[in-house]
Amino acid sequence: MNCCVVGLQWGDEGKGKVVDILAENSDIVVRYNGGANAGHTVVLDDSKFALHLLPSGSVRPNTLCVIANGVVVDPEVLLQGIETLAQKGIVLTNRLFVSENAHLVLDYHKTEDRLREESLGKNKIGTTIRGIGPCYSDKAGRSNAVRMADLRDLEQLKAKLQVVVDYKNKVFAAVYNAEPISADLIFEKCKSYAETLLPFTIDTTRFLHKAIADGKSILFEGAQGSLLDLDHGTFPFVTSSNASSLGMPAGCGVPAKMVDKFFGVAKAYTTRVGAGPFPTELDNEIGQYIRDRGHEYGTTTGRPRRCGWFDAVAVSYSLTIGAIDSIALMHLDTLTGLKEIKLCLAYQIDGKQIEFFPSNIARLEQAQCIYETVPGWEQDISEVNDFHDLPSNAQHYIMLVEELTKRPVTIIGVGPKRNQTIFR
Ligand code: GDP
Ligand code: IMO
Ligand code: MG
Repeated sequence: MNCCVVGLQWGDEGKGKVVDILAENSDIVVRYNGGANAGHTVVLDDSKFALHLLPSGSVRPNTLCVIANGVVVDPEVLLQGIETLAQKGIVLTNRLFVSENAHLVLDYHKTEDRLREESLGKNKIGTTIRGIGPCYSDKAGRSNAVRMADLRDLEQLKAKLQVVVDYKNKVFAAVYNAEPISADLIFEKCKSYAETLLPFTIDTTRFLHKAIADGKSILFEGAQGSLLDLDHGTFPFVTSSNASSLGMPAGCGVPAKMVDKFFGVAKAYTTRVGAGPFPTELDNEIGQYIRDRGHEYGTTTGRPRRCGWFDAVAVSYSLTIGAIDSIALMHLDTLTGLKEIKLCLAYQIDGKQIEFFPSNIARLEQAQCIYETVPGWEQDISEVNDFHDLPSNAQHYIMLVEELTKRPVTIIGVGPKRNQTIFR
């Protein structure tokens, strides 16, 4: 059985936890989009991992891990990730495979990301400054792009970097009045990446198709969330990859029809980091209550996450474009203690009721939310492991989410640990 897990909101839905759980029954876990902008948390009994590039299956010693062609790889973050796991006795040698076609995020991408954001002032996107946009821009632009496979021919790479860095420096000076960066320094780093990372580098498309032919079960791990999808999200306040399940086939070379089940992960409320429209946002004490109880601070950047009510219009859109089969609803425990909980059923735009999410932000910014209000619960639910042991108001809340999204909620998160999970 092959499964894919994607975020249904604006990221940080709890994909790391869900992937870690599902990885128990998978031979291979594959990251196929995004880069070190992702921060996927896996909590084990005695340790907590924040994974940026390594698939969340990497904490399981027998699971094979693939970083596929659609990922933009920051070699420093990847090496750090490998080292962090090694310190805990988790070894990735012979079980981590990085695509030779994956593009490299180099220092100048991060510089460019920062300079662009600074120059935008109040119009900035609020990126993670991990060089994601500039690296994917170079990928689409082709001539300045550097792939993992380029580390195999250092002579050629040296000449290429000279041209690329020369071009970048001209832009940095002319547009941003910024200091130049050294092509030699970048090349020296690449020389060391060649030594450390080429042993992991293979044709991952071929590897995955052979694994499928051999009957292995594969788990595809999306990064970010569907509403941050470059084409289908709240553009321009999105990331630079296809973060909905639509990005999976192109991101790893495996057609979607080879996936048996698509899981969508959502929080029982909504969060967003960075700028952009957020119709159900609670810029008040309830939002702060959720932020405090849910520890809603970015895994990658530490920024406080914006918090709001569950938005069934937005989630239904992600479910539709992603052909998602079922929902993992996380952080139900975080809502404990609220007297009343609201869910957004529809938007009002230009005096009309709209049920289909307008990804065009000019329209989305005008959306007024139409809410249903339901009673909350007081009981601690963090130890509950059977749906029927949840307080009846919590059960009703889940059933209302199912009714609004027309999908079954098959996994419920009641805490960050593996065992704080209800399966239905
Ligand atoms: P991801 O990017 O989708 O993998 O999510 P993050 O790891 O960035 O953020 C999710 C956060 O919520 C992490 O700190 C998780 O440990 C935590 N978490 C996941 N599921 C639950 C849950 O059901 N309840 C609570 N309280 N925390 C959860
Ligand atoms: P995971 O995989 C939440 C957001 C940034 C910013 C926008 C563009 O942990 O869910 P980028 O650096 O990608 O150019 O930033 O996208 N963003 C995320 N938000 N979770 C993530 O990843 C994110 N990755 C990017 O905050 O608004
Ligand atoms: Mg995250």
